[in-house]
Amino acid sequence: MSALSQEDIHNALRQVVDPVSGNDLVSGGQITGLVIKDRNIGFAIEINPVDAERMEPLRKAAERAVMALPGVSSVSAVLTAHNRAPEQARANTAPRAAGPAEQKSSLLPDVGAIVAVASGKGGVGKSTTAVNLAVALAALGKKVGILDADVYGPSLPRMFGITDKPTALPDKRIAPLEAFGVKVMSMGFMVAEDTAMIWRGPMVMGALEQMMREVDWGPLDVLVVDMPPGTGDAQLTMAQRVPLAGAVIVSTPQDIALIDARKGLNMFEKVNVPVLGIIENMSSFVCPKCGERTDTFGHGGARAEAEKLGCDFLGEIPLDVAIRVTSDSGQPITASEPDGPHAEAYLQIARAVLAKVENRTSAAAPKIVME
Ligand SMILES: Nc1ncnc2c1ncn2[C@@H]1O[C@H](COP(=O)(O)OP(=O)(O)OP(=O)(O)O)[C@@H](O)[C@H]1O
Ligand SMILES: [Mg+2]
Repeated sequence: MSALSQEDIHNALRQVVDPVSGNDLVSGGQITGLVIKDRNIGFAIEINPVDAERMEPLRKAAERAVMALPGVSSVSAVLTAHNRAPEQARANTAPRAAGPAEQKSSLLPDVGAIVAVASGKGGVGKSTTAVNLAVALAALGKKVGILDADVYGPSLPRMFGITDKPTALPDKRIAPLEAFGVKVMSMGFMVAEDTAMIWRGPMVMGALEQMMREVDWGPLDVLVVDMPPGTGDAQLTMAQRVPLAGAVIVSTPQDIALIDARKGLNMFEKVNVPVLGIIENMSSFVCPKCGERTDTFGHGGARAEAEKLGCDFLGEIPLDVAIRVTSDSGQPITASEPDGPHAEAYLQIARAVLAKVENRTSAAAPKIVME
């Protein structure tokens, strides 16, 4: 069989007509981010955000049209705000005061506070921290959800040990999965890992919005968002699209002294999202044999550095193989050893985060585009 070409996909999509514009999707220039990876096809359909709800049948029709081509084994189409949106978003992020009424967005009207867990660079333990923070918040009696914004490399299915697929509700929304008292949603539930890898910027935005809008989160006190690594444009746009109450920055001790933590802080400053504070991860090494603690990178520096950066210090988590083993095996330590010292450290951080978000009722909230 000959390989699928862009032309083949476009020909299929020419049969699908946008009911608003009356044009087919290709002539109307609405198809972006087309990716063909072997037999897997991904693309975004650019629409005006105000039409989002009416466009779901269009998205499905586009998927069906491409799926009907011989040799196609999977199709992922996502709706995305058309190209003007990021510019509008930037224009909307000038510092300004906002009243409590603006705290809640139409994307997630029943969520009290959305808190991003981010970092200046990859691999510092964002996902591990986000998961344990969410479980700790639930242990404190809060209604908690966690959203995996790492669409390219989702970690939450593994860290929560979830292998089920989410189910569709009668109203066509998706029921999030639940583990350790936390509602969980991740692109990893929906697509195979190799499909996730081929996604492009605009599709990521569409996927994130769907995970907020089309998932039945129910009322939540806190939605924790596990951010992808990096501080590039994609992360910046994500930080804009998700109506965040604030961000916590995870950093290792050596990065705090370096430029990386600053990068994370700057990213949120740019989009007017308050940084709630810094968490030091892998702060000291706990020997798995004797339990002795060693301050590999100079313990205590983080608190001082956080102050220098004008940022609160939310707490520290040691480098302990037990944290890695539990999170890699789907049994986060806060749930599997709830009375242990690590669970206590995460609980302390959870209390600090709660104190921050519950005090923020009149703080500025970023305006989001998809309204
Ligand atoms: N405090 C800790 N002690 C021991 N291992 C840890 C700790 N925190 C994280 N790890 C381990 O380090 C690895 C990277 O952590 P994690 O996936 O949470 O990082 P991340 O910042 O989310 O990465 P990415 O940037 O790829 O999203 C994982 O194997 C995790 O189990
Ligand atoms: Mg991660």
